[in-house]
Amino acid sequence: MQSVSDVAKEWIRSKGGTLLSSEELNSRLAEIDQQASDKALSDYLELKRRVYQRDSLWPSGRKATFTFERWLPERQPDVATATAVKKQATDLFKRLRREAFNVFLHGSAGVGKTAMTLAILDAFERFTNKTTMFVSAVSLREAVMFDFNDYRARARLEHIEKSMLEVDVLVIDDFGSEVGMAGSVRQATERLQQFYMRVADARYEVDENGRRTKCTIITSNNTHGELRAMYNDKLISRLVTKKPDNIILFAGLEDIRE
Ligand SMILES: Nc1ncnc2c1ncn2[C@@H]1O[C@H](COP(=O)(O)OP(=O)(O)OP(=O)(O)O)[C@@H](O)[C@H]1O
Ligand SMILES: [Mg+2]
Repeated sequence: MQSVSDVAKEWIRSKGGTLLSSEELNSRLAEIDQQASDKALSDYLELKRRVYQRDSLWPSGRKATFTFERWLPERQPDVATATAVKKQATDLFKRLRREAFNVFLHGSAGVGKTAMTLAILDAFERFTNKTTMFVSAVSLREAVMFDFNDYRARARLEHIEKSMLEVDVLVIDDFGSEVGMAGSVRQATERLQQFYMRVADARYEVDENGRRTKCTIITSNNTHGELRAMYNDKLISRLVTKKPDNIILFAGLEDIRE
Protein backbone atom coordinates (compact mmCIF):
# COMPACT_ATOMS: atom_id res chain seq x y z
CA MET A 1 0.00 0.00 0.00
CA GLN A 2 1.23 3.52 -0.94
CA SER A 3 1.94 5.97 1.83
CA VAL A 4 0.24 9.37 1.82
CA SER A 5 3.62 10.92 1.06
CA ASP A 6 4.09 8.74 -2.03
CA VAL A 7 0.60 9.56 -3.26
CA ALA A 8 1.31 13.23 -2.78
CA LYS A 9 4.63 12.99 -4.65
CA GLU A 10 2.99 11.17 -7.53
CA TRP A 11 0.23 13.75 -7.68
CA ILE A 12 2.76 16.62 -7.73
CA ARG A 13 4.72 14.96 -10.56
CA SER A 14 1.52 14.31 -12.52
CA LYS A 15 0.78 18.02 -12.36
CA GLY A 16 4.24 18.85 -13.76
CA GLY A 17 5.54 20.00 -10.37
CA THR A 18 9.08 19.40 -9.07
CA LEU A 19 9.86 17.92 -5.73
CA LEU A 20 12.30 19.83 -3.53
CA SER A 21 14.90 18.18 -1.38
CA SER A 22 14.76 19.19 2.26
CA GLU A 23 17.83 21.46 1.77
CA GLU A 24 16.16 23.12 -1.19
CA LEU A 25 12.99 23.54 0.80
CA ASN A 26 14.88 25.11 3.73
CA SER A 27 16.74 27.47 1.47
CA ARG A 28 13.47 28.53 -0.26
CA LEU A 29 11.89 29.14 3.15
CA ALA A 30 14.90 31.18 4.28
CA GLU A 31 14.63 33.22 1.07
CA ILE A 32 10.93 33.91 1.70
CA ASP A 33 11.68 34.89 5.32
CA GLN A 34 14.43 37.24 4.13
CA GLN A 35 12.12 38.87 1.57
CA ALA A 36 9.43 39.33 4.20
CA SER A 37 11.85 40.89 6.65
CA ASP A 38 13.36 43.18 3.94
CA LYS A 39 9.85 44.29 3.03
CA ALA A 40 8.94 44.93 6.68
CA LEU A 41 12.12 47.00 7.13
CA SER A 42 11.52 49.07 4.03
CA ASP A 43 7.86 49.64 5.00
CA TYR A 44 9.03 50.73 8.45
CA LEU A 45 11.59 53.13 6.97
CA GLU A 46 8.94 54.56 4.64
CA LEU A 47 6.61 55.10 7.58
CA LYS A 48 9.28 56.80 9.71
CA ARG A 49 10.24 59.03 6.77
CA ARG A 50 6.62 60.10 6.40
CA VAL A 51 6.45 61.07 10.07
CA TYR A 52 9.63 63.19 9.82
CA GLN A 53 8.29 64.82 6.66
CA ARG A 54 5.06 65.64 8.47
CA ASP A 55 6.97 67.20 11.37
CA SER A 56 9.46 69.17 9.24
CA LEU A 57 9.08 72.95 9.31
CA TRP A 58 9.72 74.69 6.01
CA PRO A 59 10.40 78.44 5.79
CA SER A 60 7.52 79.07 3.40
CA GLY A 61 5.39 76.18 4.65
CA ARG A 62 6.23 74.25 1.48
CA LYS A 63 8.73 71.40 1.21
CA ALA A 64 11.88 72.47 -0.61
CA THR A 65 14.31 70.18 -2.41
CA PHE A 66 17.75 70.55 -3.94
CA THR A 67 20.46 68.20 -5.22
CA PHE A 68 24.26 68.19 -5.44
CA GLU A 69 23.86 68.10 -9.24
CA ARG A 70 21.95 71.38 -9.18
CA TRP A 71 24.39 73.15 -6.82
CA LEU A 72 26.62 74.74 -9.47
CA PRO A 73 29.99 76.30 -8.51
CA GLU A 74 29.76 78.23 -11.81
CA ARG A 75 26.97 80.34 -10.31
CA GLN A 76 29.61 82.00 -8.12
CA PRO A 77 32.15 84.56 -9.39
CA ASP A 78 34.91 82.67 -7.52
CA VAL A 79 34.36 79.26 -9.10
CA ALA A 80 37.43 77.68 -7.46
CA THR A 81 36.28 78.53 -3.92
CA ALA A 82 32.73 77.38 -4.70
CA THR A 83 34.12 74.11 -6.12
CA ALA A 84 36.10 73.55 -2.90
CA VAL A 85 32.95 74.23 -0.82
CA LYS A 86 30.98 71.70 -2.84
CA LYS A 87 33.78 69.11 -2.58
CA GLN A 88 33.88 69.56 1.21
CA ALA A 89 30.08 69.05 1.38
CA THR A 90 30.11 65.87 -0.73
CA ASP A 91 33.10 64.52 1.25
CA LEU A 92 31.27 65.23 4.53
CA PHE A 93 28.23 63.36 3.21
CA LYS A 94 30.40 60.34 2.41
CA ARG A 95 31.82 60.37 5.96
CA LEU A 96 28.33 60.87 7.45
CA ARG A 97 27.20 57.62 5.83
CA ARG A 98 29.63 55.81 8.14
CA GLU A 99 29.73 57.93 11.30
CA ALA A 100 27.55 60.52 13.01
CA PHE A 101 28.78 64.01 13.87
CA ASN A 102 27.56 67.59 13.63
CA VAL A 103 28.10 69.90 10.67
CA PHE A 104 28.01 73.70 10.65
CA LEU A 105 27.49 75.69 7.45
CA HIS A 106 28.39 79.31 8.06
CA GLY A 107 28.19 82.27 5.69
CA SER A 108 26.28 85.38 4.75
CA ALA A 109 22.88 85.56 3.06
CA GLY A 110 22.20 84.04 -0.36
CA VAL A 111 25.49 82.12 -0.74
CA GLY A 112 23.81 78.71 -1.07
CA LYS A 113 23.93 77.24 2.45
CA THR A 114 20.30 76.10 2.55
CA ALA A 115 20.53 74.76 -1.00
CA MET A 116 23.64 72.75 -0.07
CA THR A 117 21.97 71.41 3.08
CA LEU A 118 18.93 70.29 1.09
CA ALA A 119 21.30 68.54 -1.33
CA ILE A 120 22.84 66.63 1.61
CA LEU A 121 19.36 65.59 2.81
CA ASP A 122 18.42 64.50 -0.69
CA ALA A 123 21.55 62.30 -0.85
CA PHE A 124 20.68 60.72 2.52
CA GLU A 125 17.17 59.93 1.30
CA ARG A 126 18.36 58.51 -2.00
CA PHE A 127 21.47 56.58 -1.02
CA THR A 128 21.03 55.56 2.63
CA ASN A 129 18.49 54.15 5.08
CA LYS A 130 18.88 57.15 7.37
CA THR A 131 15.93 59.36 8.20
CA THR A 132 16.05 63.16 7.78
CA MET A 133 14.14 66.18 9.00
CA PHE A 134 14.32 69.88 8.08
CA VAL A 135 13.51 72.56 10.64
CA SER A 136 13.54 76.26 9.88
CA ALA A 137 14.66 78.00 13.10
CA VAL A 138 12.27 80.89 12.47
CA SER A 139 9.27 78.59 11.99
CA LEU A 140 10.31 76.58 15.03
CA ARG A 141 10.39 79.72 17.17
CA GLU A 142 6.78 80.40 16.17
CA ALA A 143 5.79 76.81 16.98
CA VAL A 144 7.53 76.92 20.38
CA MET A 145 5.98 80.25 21.38
CA PHE A 146 2.44 78.92 20.90
CA ASP A 147 -0.45 80.19 22.97
CA PHE A 148 -0.90 77.81 25.93
CA ASN A 149 -4.65 77.65 25.28
CA ASP A 150 -4.11 76.35 21.76
CA TYR A 151 -4.17 72.59 22.33
CA ARG A 152 -3.65 71.79 18.64
CA ALA A 153 -0.46 73.85 18.54
CA ARG A 154 0.68 72.11 21.72
CA ALA A 155 0.07 68.67 20.20
CA ARG A 156 1.86 69.67 17.00
CA LEU A 157 4.88 70.88 18.97
CA GLU A 158 5.00 67.61 20.91
CA HIS A 159 5.23 65.72 17.61
CA ILE A 160 7.91 68.07 16.31
CA GLU A 161 9.98 67.71 19.48
CA LYS A 162 9.77 63.92 19.47
CA SER A 163 10.86 63.79 15.84
CA MET A 164 13.70 66.27 16.42
CA LEU A 165 15.00 64.07 19.24
CA GLU A 166 14.83 60.85 17.26
CA VAL A 167 15.57 61.49 13.59
CA ASP A 168 19.01 60.38 12.31
CA VAL A 169 19.86 63.59 10.46
CA LEU A 170 18.35 66.87 11.64
CA VAL A 171 18.82 70.19 9.88
CA ILE A 172 18.27 73.40 11.82
CA ASP A 173 18.24 76.04 9.12
CA ASP A 174 19.12 79.68 9.68
CA PHE A 175 19.85 79.10 13.35
CA GLY A 176 20.22 82.42 15.21
CA SER A 177 18.02 84.45 12.88
CA GLU A 178 15.02 83.63 15.13
CA VAL A 179 16.79 85.63 17.86
CA GLY A 180 18.48 88.55 16.16
CA MET A 181 20.18 89.69 13.01
CA ALA A 182 23.93 89.14 12.82
CA GLY A 183 25.63 92.03 14.62
CA SER A 184 22.60 92.92 16.79
CA VAL A 185 22.62 89.93 19.07
CA ARG A 186 19.85 89.35 21.60
CA GLN A 187 19.10 86.44 23.89
CA ALA A 188 16.65 83.67 23.08
CA THR A 189 13.63 83.31 25.35
CA GLU A 190 13.78 80.79 28.18
CA ARG A 191 11.16 78.63 26.51
CA LEU A 192 13.12 78.40 23.27
CA GLN A 193 16.39 77.74 25.15
CA GLN A 194 14.79 74.90 27.08
CA PHE A 195 13.29 73.37 23.97
CA TYR A 196 16.66 73.40 22.19
CA MET A 197 18.43 72.08 25.30
CA ARG A 198 16.22 68.98 25.31
CA VAL A 199 16.90 68.44 21.60
CA ALA A 200 20.65 69.02 21.96
CA ASP A 201 20.95 66.68 24.94
CA ALA A 202 19.05 63.85 23.30
CA ARG A 203 20.98 64.19 20.06
CA TYR A 204 24.32 64.01 21.80
CA GLU A 205 23.70 60.39 22.84
CA VAL A 206 26.29 57.69 22.17
CA ASP A 207 25.90 53.96 21.60
CA GLU A 208 27.50 51.16 23.66
CA ASN A 209 30.80 51.73 21.81
CA GLY A 210 30.83 55.40 22.71
CA ARG A 211 30.01 56.50 19.16
CA ARG A 212 27.57 59.30 18.36
CA THR A 213 24.38 58.05 16.70
CA LYS A 214 22.82 61.28 15.46
CA CYS A 215 23.89 64.05 13.12
CA THR A 216 22.74 67.66 13.43
CA ILE A 217 23.42 70.05 10.57
CA ILE A 218 23.20 73.75 11.38
CA THR A 219 23.19 76.61 8.89
CA SER A 220 23.67 80.15 10.15
CA ASN A 221 24.65 83.68 9.24
CA ASN A 222 25.92 84.02 12.81
CA THR A 223 29.33 83.01 14.08
CA HIS A 224 29.86 80.48 16.84
CA GLY A 225 30.55 83.39 19.24
CA GLU A 226 27.33 85.20 18.28
CA LEU A 227 25.32 82.02 18.79
CA ARG A 228 26.89 81.58 22.23
CA ALA A 229 25.71 85.07 23.17
CA MET A 230 22.11 84.17 22.17
CA TYR A 231 21.93 80.70 23.70
CA ASN A 232 23.36 78.82 26.62
CA ASP A 233 27.01 77.74 26.10
CA LYS A 234 26.19 74.11 26.86
CA LEU A 235 23.55 74.10 24.15
CA ILE A 236 25.82 75.62 21.52
CA SER A 237 28.65 73.27 22.37
CA ARG A 238 26.34 70.26 21.82
CA LEU A 239 24.72 71.56 18.64
CA VAL A 240 27.29 73.61 16.76
CA THR A 241 30.57 71.90 15.98
CA LYS A 242 33.87 73.74 16.39
CA LYS A 243 35.84 71.11 14.51
CA PRO A 244 37.28 72.84 11.41
CA ASP A 245 36.86 69.72 9.22
CA ASN A 246 33.13 69.70 9.92
CA ILE A 247 32.54 73.41 9.32
CA ILE A 248 31.75 74.50 5.78
CA LEU A 249 32.73 78.15 5.50
CA PHE A 250 31.01 79.93 2.64
CA ALA A 251 33.64 82.68 2.86
CA GLY A 252 34.36 84.49 -0.39
CA LEU A 253 31.04 83.45 -1.92
CA GLU A 254 28.47 86.02 -3.00
CA ASP A 255 24.75 86.50 -2.57
CA ILE A 256 23.26 85.03 -5.74
CA ARG A 257 19.65 85.29 -4.68
CA GLU A 258 17.62 86.84 -7.53
N1 LIG B 1 25.71 77.20 -6.27
C1 LIG B 1 24.42 77.32 -6.56
N2 LIG B 1 23.89 76.74 -7.67
C2 LIG B 1 22.58 76.89 -7.97
N3 LIG B 1 21.71 77.61 -7.23
C3 LIG B 1 22.17 78.20 -6.12
C4 LIG B 1 23.52 78.07 -5.72
N4 LIG B 1 23.70 78.77 -4.57
C5 LIG B 1 22.50 79.31 -4.27
N5 LIG B 1 21.57 78.96 -5.19
C6 LIG B 1 20.19 79.42 -5.20
O1 LIG B 1 20.21 80.76 -4.73
C7 LIG B 1 19.19 81.02 -3.78
C8 LIG B 1 19.78 81.40 -2.43
O2 LIG B 1 20.49 80.29 -1.88
P1 LIG B 1 20.24 79.76 -0.40
O3 LIG B 1 18.84 79.97 0.00
O4 LIG B 1 20.77 78.39 -0.33
O5 LIG B 1 21.17 80.79 0.40
P2 LIG B 1 21.52 80.81 1.95
O6 LIG B 1 23.01 80.86 2.05
O7 LIG B 1 20.82 79.74 2.65
O8 LIG B 1 20.96 82.25 2.37
P3 LIG B 1 20.35 82.74 3.80
O9 LIG B 1 21.53 82.94 4.70
O10 LIG B 1 19.70 84.02 3.46
O11 LIG B 1 19.42 81.70 4.26
C9 LIG B 1 18.35 79.76 -3.74
O12 LIG B 1 17.29 79.90 -4.64
C10 LIG B 1 19.31 78.69 -4.19
O13 LIG B 1 18.63 77.61 -4.77
MG1 LIG C 1 19.33 79.76 4.10
